[in-house]
Formats: sequence, structure tokens, C-alpha cells
Amino acid sequence: MLNKDRLNEKLNTNLFGKHMFCLEEIDSTNNEILKLAREGAPEGTVVCADYQTAGRGRRGRKWLAAPGQNLLFSLLLRPVREVDMSQKITLAAAVILAGAIEKYLTNYHNIEVNIRLKWPNDLLVKGKKVSGILAESILREKKIEALALGFGINVNTPAEAQPDKLKHSALSLTDLVKAPLDRESLLAEILNFAEKSYLVLERSNYKKVVPDWKKRCDQFGQRVRINIAGDIFDAQINDINHQGRLIYQTDDGQKHELIAGDVEKV
Ligand code: BTN
Repeated sequence: MLNKDRLNEKLNTNLFGKHMFCLEEIDSTNNEILKLAREGAPEGTVVCADYQTAGRGRRGRKWLAAPGQNLLFSLLLRPVREVDMSQKITLAAAVILAGAIEKYLTNYHNIEVNIRLKWPNDLLVKGKKVSGILAESILREKKIEALALGFGINVNTPAEAQPDKLKHSALSLTDLVKAPLDRESLLAEILNFAEKSYLVLERSNYKKVVPDWKKRCDQFGQRVRINIAGDIFDAQINDINHQGRLIYQTDDGQKHELIAGDVEKV
């Protein structure tokens, strides 16, 4: 199990991870953090688990991860923001996580990796997914009361040991480093980096999120298949807008905004 003392030694935050629950097994760390949020847990609370019996991905999918090898954790944020900011904060989470992992790989393993983003918040290396983020919020009137950010990072499960359906689409950090990674120091560095970045973004009103996100995206101009709740069609990706919504163009020339859906290259 993740060693909380080792984690704490490496943590130098004031907020993120100050309330930390490291569990051996749970249904889903997002379920747990949402429960804690309803009970009034403070911003920065973290729940991590070695194994999830019902790990959830976006759009009702499962998140599969072998026990004790990866990072599965949820972070509670309480930004005092309107609901329509939540998409942008979720994109920010992907930008921040990409930066944190790159910095970790450089500092601890001396390797340079360029992490790319796929809308809305998949982290890719060489076109394969190294991490996904599930954002779920509790809203009150038009305000965000709590935002649960759930991070699944493929750390120490090599590609060949992934379940068949993930073998060709997933990549672990160990595939890049060619050695096992220290999960405690990785999580601590992510939280250290994330807290600093979050405070800067909050102060600057999230001004740089969209341009920073765009720099890491290769999807613009791409032909894609879009799936919106079972409605499937082909289109071209044009851009993302100031709220972080995807702008796509259908074959009749019409431009549309996508708030939530699946986008796959064709
Ligand atoms: C996706 O790419 O679809 C998002 C995956 C998010 C998975 C993480 S693992 C920790 C947290 N708890 C969950 O049940 N899901 C998120």
C-alpha cells in the first residue's frame, strides 16, 4: 500500500494532501471524495487507493488498474466559481498533471517526455493513454460547491501486462522509464506542483488555461468520429472556445460546440 509517512515527507503543500486518506481498496476514490465533500471536507482533501473495485472512467466506462501498481486518487477542490467555469478547471487539471509528470520524469529519471492532450482531459504519450481524469461536481444554485477530480495514472503496469483491451491503447510511465517508479514521490510531486499551479490559476482567473491546453493538443484540423450519447457522426475538429468546449464542423459546414462526448480519430 502507498506509504503515507513517505508521502508526507516529500509533500510541501499547505492545502493539497493535508487531509489525506490512503486506502488499500475502495469502490472508487471519486465516490469517497464526493461523500467526504458532502460531509464538509476541506479543499485539498485527497483520497488514494491501491485498488478500486468499481473504478469509473468518463461517460460510464470502467477504469481498470492492477492492484498496487498505479496511482488512483481523487482531489477535492472548492473553487468559488460559477458552474460554467468547471469545464475550464477540468482542462486545467489535465495541463497541470501533464506538466507535473514531465517535471517528475526530468528531475527523477532524466528523461524528456512531451505529453499531449486529447479533449477533454486524456494525457497521451506516443498516441497512447497514460492518464485519464474524471471530474464530478456538486453544485448549489449556479455555483460550484465541490469539484472532485479523479486521476488514474498508469505507473508501473507495463504495456504487455495490461488487459487485452488496453494493450494497444494504454502506456505506463514505467514503459518510458524502463524501471519501476516510486509512487509516493510521484504523487507527492504531483500534489506539490498542482497546488502551486492551482493557486496561480485562481489568482489569474484561469486566463492561461485555454492557450496552455491548446499547445498540447494535436486534434485541431483532425477528422473525427463524435459520439454524443449514442448519436454518432463524423466531423472535423476546429478549436476549443474560451470555456473549454470543443468546436467542430459537420460536413454541411455548420459549426457546433461540444460540452460532453467522445471524440475518436478516423
Ligand atoms: C477517463 O479517462 O475516462 C477518466 C478516468 C479516471 C479514473 C480515475 S482513477 C481514480 C478516480 N476514481 C475513479 O473511480 N475514477 C478516477
